[in-house]
Amino acid sequence: MESVQLLVLVLMWKLSSASVLQNQTKTRFSPLLPPTQTRFSLPVLLHVSSVFRRVERRFLSVTIDSSLASEEKFMSLLGSPKVRTLAKALSPAFLRFGGTRQDFMEFSPIRRDASSSAEKSCSARLLPSWLEQRLKKEWSRQQILLKREDLQRKYKRVKFTEFTVDLLHSFSNCSGLDLIFGLNALLRTSENIWNGSNARSLLQYCESRGYQMDWELGNEPNSYEKKAGVRVDGFQLGEDFAHLREMMSQSKLYRHAGLYGPDVGQPRNHRTDILQG
Ligand SMILES: *[C@@H]1O[C@H](CO)[C@@H](O)[C@H](O)[C@H]1NC(C)=O
Ligand SMILES: *[C@@H]1O[C@H](CO)[C@@H](O)[C@H](O)[C@H]1NC(C)=O
Ligand SMILES: *[C@@H]1O[C@H](CO)[C@@H](O)[C@H](O)[C@H]1NC(C)=O
Repeated sequence: MESVQLLVLVLMWKLSSASVLQNQTKTRFSPLLPPTQTRFSLPVLLHVSSVFRRVERRFLSVTIDSSLASEEKFMSLLGSPKVRTLAKALSPAFLRFGGTRQDFMEFSPIRRDASSSAEKSCSARLLPSWLEQRLKKEWSRQQILLKREDLQRKYKRVKFTEFTVDLLHSFSNCSGLDLIFGLNALLRTSENIWNGSNARSLLQYCESRGYQMDWELGNEPNSYEKKAGVRVDGFQLGEDFAHLREMMSQSKLYRHAGLYGPDVGQPRNHRTDILQG
């Protein structure tokens, strides 16, 4: 039943993008149509009697951009009752926490006492509405700073504590989403080898909390040169992934956890070396 719904959704999307194309037939966007044709119809035949392909139940998934942790207080927005309610409707799905800033983030634990908020129930973590309003206002100012960083391609290092991971885990767990945490692949030694020591301490913290989660290493490594003036080729990246997998295999909790990546985008020109190795 779900597959049929998905199929219909995909078709509706195709149809709606087709009608956008229809209005753009004179532009270069219409490889499907001869340039003079201004109207066309797309006959669609639905065979609902059998399933041809089945996608993962979590095929449609979502990301929370890691820029939310650019100042840790904004992570509290994940306690918004409205966001929680909406997120629940997305289950089952993965919730990936990542993006450009994941490669500028370092785990910097402060080891709060045992009464830390990690164990609180889902309803105990909800954000009061006055605080939500205030954070949202501040967030619109923060977005201007983030935009400036993006334009200048100069990214500030961000330190995050247990607070960020606790909130992410509780948000995904209370929403029925499976968390994928994007690790920083730009922590590198002078030999340009990934330095996993920060990841190790994060994994250790998460394991001590019993957080079931998956991992990703690096965000769009093809653009590391633009973002950080560092080049990493496919061979080295492969070694780095093997290193992380080895680290995970030493952990009881993450031995069988997922490891995702490298999420190479736009591998053009000299950047195709990211696909080799
Ligand atoms: C395409 O253009 C027609 C009129 O030119 C308009 O009525 C229709 O809404 C447009 N469709 C889209 C998807 O923009
Ligand atoms: C939420 O946490 C509970 C207890 O650790 C676990 O049994 C459950 O599978 C988790 N759910 C998700 C979606 O991670
Ligand atoms: C890796 O990073 C840690 C700090 O997180 C540092 O103490 C250590 O010297 C680094 N190792 C190498 C080989 O650069």
